[in-house]
Amino acid sequence: MGSATILYPGDGAPLMDGTTQYNEKVVRQFALATVVWGVVGMAVGVLIAAQLIWPALNFDVPWLSYGRLRPLHTNAVIFAFGGSALFATAYWVVQRTCQTPLFAPKLASFTFWGWQTVIVLAAVTLPLGITQSKEYAELEWPIALLIAVVWISYAIVFFGTIVKRKVKHIYVANWFYGAFIITVAVLHVVNNLVIPVSLTKSYPIYAGAVDAMVQWWYGHNAVGFFLTAGFLGMMYYFVPKQANRPIYSYRLSIVHFWALISIYMWAGPHHLHYTALPEWAQSLGMVFSLILLAPSWGGMINGIMTLSGAWHKLRTDPILKFLIVSLSFYGMATFEGPMMSIKTVNALSHYTDWTVGHVHAGALGWVAFITFGAIYHLIPKLYGREQMYSVKAIELHFWVSTIGVVLYIAAMWIAGVMQGLMWRAVNEDGTLTYTFIESLVATYPYYMVRLLGGVLFLGGMLLMAWNVWMTTRPVATRAESTTAVPQEG
Ligand code: HEM
Ligand code: HEM
Repeated sequence: MGSATILYPGDGAPLMDGTTQYNEKVVRQFALATVVWGVVGMAVGVLIAAQLIWPALNFDVPWLSYGRLRPLHTNAVIFAFGGSALFATAYWVVQRTCQTPLFAPKLASFTFWGWQTVIVLAAVTLPLGITQSKEYAELEWPIALLIAVVWISYAIVFFGTIVKRKVKHIYVANWFYGAFIITVAVLHVVNNLVIPVSLTKSYPIYAGAVDAMVQWWYGHNAVGFFLTAGFLGMMYYFVPKQANRPIYSYRLSIVHFWALISIYMWAGPHHLHYTALPEWAQSLGMVFSLILLAPSWGGMINGIMTLSGAWHKLRTDPILKFLIVSLSFYGMATFEGPMMSIKTVNALSHYTDWTVGHVHAGALGWVAFITFGAIYHLIPKLYGREQMYSVKAIELHFWVSTIGVVLYIAAMWIAGVMQGLMWRAVNEDGTLTYTFIESLVATYPYYMVRLLGGVLFLGGMLLMAWNVWMTTRPVATRAESTTAVPQEG
């Protein structure tokens, strides 16, 4: 990492006090990648939000068209930004809580370079229009194969570390990370069973409604395990750490774990209401989605209550603010989701921007916020600093992005309900009251507000990138900084 003269704990120098020497290089790499891909993914998000208002922003260039940039955005934010954060934190947490360095460090290094290769290949192929056309599983078969290899390597490193742990107990955060790793492997493999016809084109082995069901079993559990279980692992480690309090209820965390992972699996059909999927499967998805509210809120309460007795810390610690507010957005999204899965509510919300609002309540408010908190917690530790270069900048990041999320999701809720009501409105003679274009025109003001929210959120991300850059610069060049630099051992 960086200059050869700088030695960080875990880079190969034996520690004088005989404590465990952890592999921190791969954690640093993934942590920095999180920040870089966060900027890129959100910048593309802002561009497509602007294109929805001014379509001319595609400049008539095919690879800048909305249909190609949208999957680029989702892949960049979920797999590049979120994925790198999950790798970084899982590797940090599993080593610390098992009190042993990573198993197979070379394989861990391969997961970093392999994952970055996947991201670069995605960034090239998606704008070229090379896609499987399955949402969140767009990448064509050669890249999907590479993902499988990287993911299995990730599993070997993670579970290998668990096996050689020095403590008997397996801390609950590892249960969540472990479930996330295993489930994503299964989802990815099953949903990518395809017959290739060329290097850049393949067809699924499934057909019709079965294909749709497999895709949304994958899609929903990608939300449940990639965007939820892994980040809950993050929550169970970083919230108690940052608050310096034990987790509120260890017993609840175990119930939370088993309830969440056993219920999530069945909820996928709520993405296919009123389709060719059999009616009973749709109802099953709805019922399991409603039940899912309980474990989701159990986890949220467990996280938030960890602060009992330490609420005052929220006033002064912006990292804790990110972590705790992320949990309230998680609670919001996991209340809204079950409501949207009720068939009569879904009849109004489906195809509208309400769904997009729900997605970003989870994606910005929960996933991005908890990631910001975890990365701000980690960076100073990874670089032997006492704290981030500017704590004021973290505070500003918090407020700018909070306003950004609220503008984004409030605009989409209003737009979504309005669209749903306009599309279903009928005159007495049975004809539609509004044309589609009328609903689109009515949506423009809300698209403007969403764009403003997105710009604020991206602004916060850029502030974070600057702060991380200033914190990680070699000490000698940081002459003006007033922060003391401890020699972390
Ligand atoms: C600056 C921040 C962001 C902006 C401005 C933004 C903007 C957008 C826009 C305009 C869309 C397309 C909506 C449509 O087709 O109508 C979208 C979709 C999506 N975004 Fe973002 N986004 C941002 C951050 C994120 C983050 C951090 C995540 C995930 C961690 C995320 C996940 C998604 C997903 C999953 C979709 C697809 C939603 C669906 O199909 O319903 N976004 N985003
Ligand atoms: C109890 C938990 C949750 C339930 C029951 C749930 C339910 C739903 C429902 C009913 C939809 C709309 C499906 C449609 O009409 O097409 C949806 C969409 C979505 N939700 Fe959730 N949700 C939950 C939590 C979350 C969380 C925490 C996140 C993000 C971190 C999230 C991300 C998404 C995404 C990305 C979509 C859009 C999928 C697409 O069409 O592309 N959900 N969810």
